[in-house]
Amino acid sequence: MRSETEMKWLHVKKGESFDLVCDKIASDKSISHRCAIFSLLSDKPSIVRNYLRAEDTLCTLNIVKQLGAEVEESGNRLKITPPDGLSEPEDVLDCGNSGTAMRLFCGFLSSIPGHFVLTGDRYLRRRPMRRVTEPLTQIGAKIDGREDGNLAPLCLRGERLRSFNYESQIASAQVKSAMILAALRADDVSTYREPELSRDHTERMLRGMGANIESWDTITIEPLIKPLEPLDITVPADPSSGFFFAVAAAIVPGSRVVLKNVTLNPTRTEAYKVLKEMGARVEFEEMQNRYEPIGDITVTYDGRLKAVEVSERISWLIDELPALSIAMAVAEGESVVKNAAELRVKESDRISCVIDGLKACGIECSETEDGYKIVGSNFKSAEIDSCGDHRIAMSFAIAGLLADMRIKDVECIETSFPNFTEILGSITEVESWR
Ligand code: S3P
Repeated sequence: MRSETEMKWLHVKKGESFDLVCDKIASDKSISHRCAIFSLLSDKPSIVRNYLRAEDTLCTLNIVKQLGAEVEESGNRLKITPPDGLSEPEDVLDCGNSGTAMRLFCGFLSSIPGHFVLTGDRYLRRRPMRRVTEPLTQIGAKIDGREDGNLAPLCLRGERLRSFNYESQIASAQVKSAMILAALRADDVSTYREPELSRDHTERMLRGMGANIESWDTITIEPLIKPLEPLDITVPADPSSGFFFAVAAAIVPGSRVVLKNVTLNPTRTEAYKVLKEMGARVEFEEMQNRYEPIGDITVTYDGRLKAVEVSERISWLIDELPALSIAMAVAEGESVVKNAAELRVKESDRISCVIDGLKACGIECSETEDGYKIVGSNFKSAEIDSCGDHRIAMSFAIAGLLADMRIKDVECIETSFPNFTEILGSITEVESWR
């Protein structure tokens, strides 16, 4: 654990209106993880352009190498050559801070012959893994971990898996993806249902690689009878990372941001629609469609925002709720977030971190079990603890555009958006120190 004196701080100074056209938003994290893992399902090299070079996805790439893949990098292009047969790694597989990496690898490795140990940083080692280890164990996987298989480090021994008909209680793309990866190597056709559609990159990408995956209300997955076609993909920009600057444009009078080449997958753009409902001008322009629709998003300040209630399609905006809470904090009226208990088991307990942070900024707000209430007013300068969570750190950095913010423990920004501070520095004054 980092001591107070080693912690990195960020000071964001109150800014003026800005007009930013940005083609440097970090590449999509969800898609990057999947590119690395799915390349192992082919017997030919995959080509991945604009792979996200952030701590989380570099951990995943490293694990793919430990499993025997060869990774060649030139400029923004990765060539990932899968091994003839995956090798049993000599060492533990470190997922860093990434729940996506740990849960997807659980599904993927459950059927690979060998012994694998998945671990991560102190935040990830506290996050619940039973949501994947339990359904996987039910179909024959051998997985163990602390708290009877709930907490990492997790030990896996690959086994032959049975097909399944699984109905998940949570709309989670990580659980869904883990089960789809397991189903690809099960002994017969499997089905998976979730309470509402969660982000669907896995289905889109695997289908693009030739897998037989049908999705309506129920997802039907046929086991692979041969290796998949390799990926040839340019990873679009991450709408969750872009959203920090969308909120910035929506709350700083006279501002506009154009986010270039973002995935416009509807399971990822819901927060932009909420921002529009709150009164910002939000425009989508689709430019291409390969695996996913991709294009530009423009967000323009259009007067003071209005309060909103968010209680549906939560999985489509779960990662954006901390940044959205900054918009709610200046909107006219009381905003309410409900049905979002999943926020409590993210990189931090995002309900209490958001509320503690907003209270420090003088905003009237309160937590509920599955969300929060925020009464919009004006930000006061404050000192904020990121709770070691990248999205909390970046959300309050954006609030700094309205009143100076000093944010403690910002190293975590490296997990998803290493050039965030540089982009923020192009619209206002920022200073960081240890
Ligand atoms: C992700 C799924 C979501 C999201 C996470 C990335 C993914 O998590 O919050 O940041 O890439 O599958 P859950 O599956 O836990 O909802």
